[in-house]
Amino acid sequence: MSTTPTFQDVFGSRPEVYARAPGRVNLLGEHTDYNDGFVLPCAIPQSTRVAMRRNGGGATRVHAAAYGRTVEFAPGTDAAEDEGNPFALYVSGTLIEAAQEGLQVPALDIFVVSDVPIGVGLSSSAALEVAVLRALRELLEAQEQLDDVRIAQVAQRAEVEHAGVRCGIMDQMASSLADTRSALFLDTRTLRRQLVALPEGSSVLVMDSGVARSLATSGYNQRRAECEAAAAALGVPALRDVEYLSAVEQLADETLRKRARHVVSENQRVLSAAAGCDAAGFGTLMNASHASLRDDYEVSVPEVDRLVDLLQRQPAVWGARMTGAGWGGAVVALCHQDAAEDVARAVLREYAAGGGKGRALVPELAQDANSGG
Ligand code: GLA
Repeated sequence: MSTTPTFQDVFGSRPEVYARAPGRVNLLGEHTDYNDGFVLPCAIPQSTRVAMRRNGGGATRVHAAAYGRTVEFAPGTDAAEDEGNPFALYVSGTLIEAAQEGLQVPALDIFVVSDVPIGVGLSSSAALEVAVLRALRELLEAQEQLDDVRIAQVAQRAEVEHAGVRCGIMDQMASSLADTRSALFLDTRTLRRQLVALPEGSSVLVMDSGVARSLATSGYNQRRAECEAAAAALGVPALRDVEYLSAVEQLADETLRKRARHVVSENQRVLSAAAGCDAAGFGTLMNASHASLRDDYEVSVPEVDRLVDLLQRQPAVWGARMTGAGWGGAVVALCHQDAAEDVARAVLREYAAGGGKGRALVPELAQDANSGG
């Protein structure tokens, strides 16, 4: 018998609407979105599910199954920070931003269940924001005000204004518009986008390095400021506007030069991949992306480098790299089709032998295989 409570157990009656939204893994185009550049994420099978109803009272209540805790706040206000239910702050921020769109957001009961891994760079927060907005769209019949792109924009504002991360729009666009069978090629300046098929004969493998991303928020905001400084020094609105790497070499400051070199070369890699390449070509671009993130952007950590290296050595792997903001968390590889589970098992064994505590996230493995034993 399951002991996980349901919406009805917590709130006493049934919800009016249900919605869900997936996490995402970024295949190429890291730290390019806040530089107005190009990205290539796809959705992962794990998702966040939201059940919602109007409660007719004076407070919104958010229950997160993973934490077993309900948090209350007045509509139109931020939830207090609560370690017992960190989801509530994202939900309240999302609802405030939805109200900014002109929606009349009443007091709600909201129940959240998620299997998107938290804190590894697979956008659990974007999945939560997008799932809440999808549920709200249905509840308020707001299809016209909230199309899928608008949902991503509102969700991004929730993250920037209420969670304190000056993120770009990749994660929210991926959660709102991508699927697991193709990659979403997105120009983050114009939001022009296209679904592109994964290279023939390939499949995506995602693994967690087991290293917590402790410096992620401060480091992320610092990288963003460095990119803005580099763009200003080069006299362009954003690093997206630098087409040739030779222009970057004019920057006198070495740190800014390295950051800009990553962003400009990473945009070129996304454009090459989106123009169409085979699995081997795509893998080569992923390997180059990792080297650039490690050496020029300096957002990798030794354990992640080691996991990526182990993956790159596998004969059935076309390419591998860190994914997400960095400072630990997940890595992604492009494998020969149907080889992902075998690759994951082999790499987990080697990683564990060196002291690493990894796990496969996509595809998920049975518990014993995931321990690396
Ligand atoms: C985080 C941010 C995204 C993006 C990536 C790095 O996931 O939320 O907007 O900047 O980092 O590519």
